[in-house]
Amino acid sequence: MAEDRDAVAEIGVIGGSGFYSFLDDVAELEVATPYGPPSDKLVVGTVGEGAKARRVAFLPRHGRGHHLPPHGINYRANLWALRSLGVRRVLGPCAVGGLRADHGPGTLVVPDQLVDRTSGRAQTFFDGVARGDGRVPQVVHTAFADPYCPEGRRAALGAAQDWPAGRTVDGGTLVVIEGPRFSTRAESRWYAAQGWSVVGMTGHPEAVLARELGLCYTSVNLVTDLDAGVEAGEGVTHEEVMRVFASNVAALRELLFAVIANLPESRGCACGAALDGLTTGLPELDG
Ligand code: ADE
Repeated sequence: MAEDRDAVAEIGVIGGSGFYSFLDDVAELEVATPYGPPSDKLVVGTVGEGAKARRVAFLPRHGRGHHLPPHGINYRANLWALRSLGVRRVLGPCAVGGLRADHGPGTLVVPDQLVDRTSGRAQTFFDGVARGDGRVPQVVHTAFADPYCPEGRRAALGAAQDWPAGRTVDGGTLVVIEGPRFSTRAESRWYAAQGWSVVGMTGHPEAVLARELGLCYTSVNLVTDLDAGVEAGEGVTHEEVMRVFASNVAALRELLFAVIANLPESRGCACGAALDGLTTGLPELDG
């Protein structure tokens, strides 16, 4: 792992559907990981000026051109690659469907919980399986009661006060489905009946892999549609998701710049402690 002297970025942004570029003045880096290649080259640049300048790495989650489906994304490689550049805080914007009539398109949700309804995705670095370099990680059971960074959420909510596209919601539960299909009406009604707020396809295992690496992770959800089980929700199409996301992507970019500016420079949260005192068997993590 690159330590601070090698670090090229402190903050990582993993862009979702329709979000393929973020920074203007950039260097592109091809980053190899023990888990294979990340979704694309990482783009590194600066956000803010002078004393407020922050180094940021951007990665399009689905690859440029959206060639990777949610279940085909190498989440482990993506998080590992960011960490190897020095990133310690990750922002994960993504498109979601609303599960409540008052979470219509344009709503911005900063969830505080998630429910995993995916299956078969590699969701830990600590699986006891030898990686490409022959290292075998030890078993680790990571605390995940509160999946998102409180400092990141605060920074996001502070920035969201100026969100132009609709209302903003502090908290709620993101349910992550396996996809790539959208939910049936029955599934969607069931998610809504549980009291869950929004539904997406990529929020897991991204958040837990970040936690396993001691990274702060903040989920920022842009509602692109009302899901099929919601009153007035007619069922969603991929075209609709991409169209609504595209019409909000400029505002989302501005919002993320404001979130980055709001992030405290040093971490006062407990996210980095996830690795404290552990022997993982992976030299990059055992410090
Ligand atoms: N992403 C955007 N809208 C969605 C929906 N309705 N279900 C799952 N993922 C989504």
